[in-house]
Amino acid sequence: MSEKLDLDLWHQRYTQQAKWSQEIRQYLLGKISLGEGNKILEVGSGTGAVLSLLSEETRAQCFGVDIDIASLAFSAKLGYPLAFAAGDAYSLPFPDDSFNLTYCHYLLLWIKNPLAVIAEMVRVTRPGGLVIALAEPDYQARIDHPKKLAQLGKIQTQSLHEQGADTAMGRKLLGLFHDAGLQNITSGILGAQWESTDTGEIDENEWLMIQADTAGRLSPEALAAYRRAESEARREEKRVLFIPTFYAAGIVS
Ligand SMILES: C[S@@+](CC[C@H](N)C(=O)[O-])C[C@H]1O[C@@H](n2cnc3c(N)ncnc32)[C@H](O)[C@@H]1O
Repeated sequence: MSEKLDLDLWHQRYTQQAKWSQEIRQYLLGKISLGEGNKILEVGSGTGAVLSLLSEETRAQCFGVDIDIASLAFSAKLGYPLAFAAGDAYSLPFPDDSFNLTYCHYLLLWIKNPLAVIAEMVRVTRPGGLVIALAEPDYQARIDHPKKLAQLGKIQTQSLHEQGADTAMGRKLLGLFHDAGLQNITSGILGAQWESTDTGEIDENEWLMIQADTAGRLSPEALAAYRRAESEARREEKRVLFIPTFYAAGIVS
C-alpha cells in the first residue's frame, strides 16, 4: 500500500470507503442477530473506521486485529469501546469459535494467499456465525470516462499492482468463499450513483489517493492536466468512475 499519506488522511479515506459499504453492511448484518455478549472481529481493521461505526450500530463487543502497530495505536485513540490486538491475518491471535461475526474490508486484495486468510477467519468464527468480505475492488474492470481520464485510471491500477495489490480480487471473492467451505453464500457488487451537483468539485480525498498512487509516474504538468480534465468533466457532469467492488458473506458450518 502507498505509504505516502499520513494516518489522519488514511483515516479520512477509510471513513469515506466505510460509507460506500454501509448499506450492504447493514443488509448482511441483518442475516444474524447480534446482541450483548456477542463478538465481532474485523481482520485488518486499519484505523478503525468501519469498526467504530459498527460499535455504534450493534450492541456486540467489537474487536480489531491489524499487523500495523501505528494504525492500531491510531484506532485505540478514537474513543470507542473497541478492543484491538496486533496480529497477522494468517494466524489470528484468537482460539477457535471465538466470534459470531468475522469480517474484513478492503483487505484481501493486499493478501498473497487470500484463501488461507478466509480459512483463518472461518476458524475463529463459531458454527452458524457469519464471515463477510465487505468490500474487495476489481480495478481491472474499472470504468473511467471521459477517455483522457481512462489513461489516468490505467496508471493508478498499474501502480496498485506494483504496490502488491491483486487488482482483480473482486471477481475472485465468490469462488474463494466457496473454496473455504462457507455455506449459504451471498455475493454481489456495491451499487453506485451519480448525482447532479452545482459545483462539480473534485473529490479531494479521491484525488489525494490518485496523487499518491501516481507519484513518480507523472510529471507535475501531466498531473495538473489530468486534474483540469477531471474538474472539467465533473463541471460538465460527464465524469464516471466506477470500480466494481464485490462483497461476499457465508455461514460457517
Ligand atoms: C486498505 S487497509 C483497510 C483498513 C480497514 N479495513 C478499513 O477498511 O478501514 C488494509 C489494512 O490491512 C492491514 N493488513 C494487511 N496485511 C495484513 C495481515 N497480513 N494481517 C493483518 N492485517 C493486515 C493493513 O495494515 C491495513 O491496515
